Amino acid sequence: MARYRYESSGGQGSWDDVIMGASMLQELGEKKNPGRKIPMKKVMIDCDVGVDDALALILAFHSSELDLKAVTAVNGNVPVDKAFENIRKVLCLIRPRQKPIIAKGAGRPLKGEPVYAYSIHGKDGLGGAKFEREEGEEWWQIDPDPAYELFAEMARQYPNEVTLIATGPLTNLALGLQRDEEGMRRLKEVVIMGGAVRTGGNMTPDAEFNLFVDPLAARRVFESGLPITLVPLDVTHQVFLTPRVMEERVKPLRNAFAQFMTEATGYHSIVRRFKGGKVFHLHDPLAVGVVLDPALVTTEQLSLDVDVQEGEHYGRISEVPGKPKIEVCLEVDSKRFLDLFLSRIG
Ligand code: BDR
Ligand code: CA
Repeated sequence: MARYRYESSGGQGSWDDVIMGASMLQELGEKKNPGRKIPMKKVMIDCDVGVDDALALILAFHSSELDLKAVTAVNGNVPVDKAFENIRKVLCLIRPRQKPIIAKGAGRPLKGEPVYAYSIHGKDGLGGAKFEREEGEEWWQIDPDPAYELFAEMARQYPNEVTLIATGPLTNLALGLQRDEEGMRRLKEVVIMGGAVRTGGNMTPDAEFNLFVDPLAARRVFESGLPITLVPLDVTHQVFLTPRVMEERVKPLRNAFAQFMTEATGYHSIVRRFKGGKVFHLHDPLAVGVVLDPALVTTEQLSLDVDVQEGEHYGRISEVPGKPKIEVCLEVDSKRFLDLFLSRIG
């Protein structure tokens, strides 16, 4: 497993110090306010790990406000088997105190062929970051059933308590609705990173990656009437790491997560660039940020459709009348989000 060690001003520390620091925030809160428990939000994350998905997982597991029940894999940035393996790699880095359930979901979109994002996330999906895993080490509980069955099961177990965060294509969510719509209706909230509403796409001039990979799934989820908050490129393009942030705020952390961020984003100090360009977007972490602090964003209720017709507008979102309303994030306090993100990484 990733046995990174870090140097702190007080000498060399170990992994456990980093993890305990984060996971004990909850307990500290309780000590400061004896008898007052901070309510934790029950959360599941469906992801296609993915460098920014990995950062979203780190942010979520380091946030004492969240009780991360399950992490599930979907085809997207990489094939689903790779995404599932990457969940386990990232959990070995995080070493959560409460082991989440993990499950594998759809291996292909409802319609069309898979499209991978190797050019952004690397062939392994984690930008080639190094992990060393010890034999037999497991920071999870595997559910052998498909991910899309787990959503409704969990929602039935904790009615109106569970927030589902989706940071990949929406195939698993659409299949979940197909299997047990009644169960899915017991989710408290669904927060989705995806789409480009009043801005351009990142796959095509119109379409964002997660929606482009499986627009039919996205349409079904949008039409479901579930309580959805959409975190589209309109806001995620406003939140990013810069070389200055890496030099001044990430590198000085000198911990395993800073090292992972540097390797996975392909950041080079000498040229002061990331592998993919001058900035690195924190798309998926912002979806977690919105769950942690909804006041980070300004939203509008919109009714949306997704183009499923093959052609130049495949995966495009359009505002249409008569569909269920979705809470769409259109503005974000980028500075406050970055502060939150970095404070949890450190
Ligand atoms: C989305 O596409 C993926 O490559 C990222 O992980 C993110 O979920 C951004 O368009
Ligand atoms: Ca993703």
